[in-house]
Amino acid sequence: MVIDLRSDFIARPTQAMVEAMSLAAEIPGGFGPREDPTVMRLEALAAKTLGKPDALFVPTCMMANQIAIHLRCRPGDAFLTEAEAHVVTSESAAASALSGAMPRLLAATNGALDPDAVAAALGPADAQRARVGLILQENTHVRSGGRVIPYQHMQNVSQIARAGGVPVHLDGARVFNAATALGRPACDLAALADTVSFNLNKGLGAPLGAILAGPAELIAEAVRVRQMFGGGWRPAGIPAAAGIVALETMIDRMSEDHANARGLSEGLAEIDGLSVDPGATETNIVLARPTGTSSEVLAEALAERGVLVLPFGPCIRLVTHHEITEDAVAETLAVFRSVLTGEKNGS
Ligand SMILES: Cc1ncc(COP(=O)(O)O)c(C=O)c1O
Repeated sequence: MVIDLRSDFIARPTQAMVEAMSLAAEIPGGFGPREDPTVMRLEALAAKTLGKPDALFVPTCMMANQIAIHLRCRPGDAFLTEAEAHVVTSESAAASALSGAMPRLLAATNGALDPDAVAAALGPADAQRARVGLILQENTHVRSGGRVIPYQHMQNVSQIARAGGVPVHLDGARVFNAATALGRPACDLAALADTVSFNLNKGLGAPLGAILAGPAELIAEAVRVRQMFGGGWRPAGIPAAAGIVALETMIDRMSEDHANARGLSEGLAEIDGLSVDPGATETNIVLARPTGTSSEVLAEALAERGVLVLPFGPCIRLVTHHEITEDAVAETLAVFRSVLTGEKNGS
C-alpha cells in the first residue's frame, strides 16, 4: 500500500463525508450565488466556527486570499507580508496581476512578521510610498514546515495594524492546525484578523473547497469578486456537504495528526543520513534534510518502496493527515531506514 505524505490535501474524504455528499446530491441546488441550501449551511457553520458575521465558500484558499487582497487594495497599493508567505511564493503573482497590489516583504521569523517592521511600514503617510491596504499573516506557516505563530505575536501585530487603521487578513489555510497547537479555538485567532481564509481540503479532509470569512458587507462584495475571478461555482452543494462534516468531525481529532508528525520527526532524527529538528515539528508538517544525497533522489528511492514525500528545496516534506495512522508512521520509518542505511524493511 502506498503511504502518501506529500500533502494533506491528498487525504481522501471520510465515509461520513461520502455519505453526506451522496445525500446532498438529492437536494435541488439553489439558482443564485447564495441560494444553495447546503452551501448556505456550510457558510453559516464556517462563520460561526470562526466567530465572523459571514463566510463564503470558494474553490481554493488561494482564491480566498486573492479576494481579500482585491477587496482591500487599490491598484498601486501595497500589502505587508514576508518573502516565504504562500501568497508570495505560490500564487503566481496573482495580487499584482489581478489587483495591481504589490507585496511589501517585511522581516519575519518562521512566518511571524517583525512587529517593529510592521509599525515602521505603517509610519506617517509619505507621497513616495505605496499606501498599505492590508497586512497578511499566515498561520500555520507552510514553508517553515507548519510552524505556528504564537497567539501573543499575532495579537501584537493586530494591535499595531488596528492602531494604524489597516485591516488584517489571516491566511489560515491550516488555521485549525494552528489553533490545535496553541490549545485555543480557531475563533480566538480569527478575532485577531478582519478576514480569514482556510482550506476545507487540507487537515480537515474534505475533497475540495475553502472559506473566506469576515464582515457581512465585505463578504457581500466578495461574492462579486469571486465571480470576477471565475469562482462562481454552481451547484456546489455536494462539496459543501463534505465541508460541513469536515467542520463537525475533523477539528477535534487534529491533535492525532500532530502527534503522528512528531513521532515521524523523532524517528527520522534517529536515522543516519537525515538532518531533522523534531522541535520544529509543531503541527502536521515534517521537514527533513538528507545529508548524503539530494531531496529529489531520496524522494525517488522512497517512492519505489511505496512512500511518497515531496522534495522541498534541500529538504523533503512529509505531511500527516487523517489517513496517516501510527502504523503508517512506523512503516514509513522502516522504509526510510531501509533506503538510507540498508537496514531490512520492517526491522
Ligand atoms: C498557507 C497556504 N495558503 C494558501 C494555500 C492555497 O490553497 P489552495 O491550494 O486551496 O489554493 C496553501 C496551499 O498549500 C497554503 O499552504
